[in-house]
Amino acid sequence: MTALAFLSSAVIVLPASAADISDAEALAMVRRHCVSCHAAEPAHPAMKETPKNVVLETVSDLKKHARAIAEQTVASKAMPLGNETEMTETERAALGRWLKAVQ
Ligand code: HEC
Repeated sequence: MTALAFLSSAVIVLPASAADISDAEALAMVRRHCVSCHAAEPAHPAMKETPKNVVLETVSDLKKHARAIAEQTVASKAMPLGNETEMTETERAALGRWLKAVQ
């Protein structure tokens, strides 16, 4: 019953929540806001190693970590850390829709 309810609501919700940015745009956003720290070799001076081993350098990295990214960036806004890069609400919402669509 619960599964059925979820399925039917997913069918209805999907068009409205479908990604309105491309994979390339999602990756570009993450490169701007996340990759200084979340790289195999972080460029950020404060990061000696990849935080929590979460590398976000490719579209498949983003898909692999989609759920965690959504939690940290859309739901809680814990990331980008200290919002150093001033990620906007519009960007968070667009990334959130993309993450939902690729999960
Ligand atoms: C200034 C460096 C920095 C930037 C920029 C940054 N992060 Fe992080 N991130 C961290 C650190 C440090 C941690 C580990 C936090 C902790 O120990 O709780 C972390 C943890 C995470 C985690 C794992 C959380 C967990 O508890 O498992 C995810 C997912 C994540 N970041 C995603 C992102 C995303 C997506 C962005 C860009 C929108 C981003 N981060 C930008 C430093 C950064």
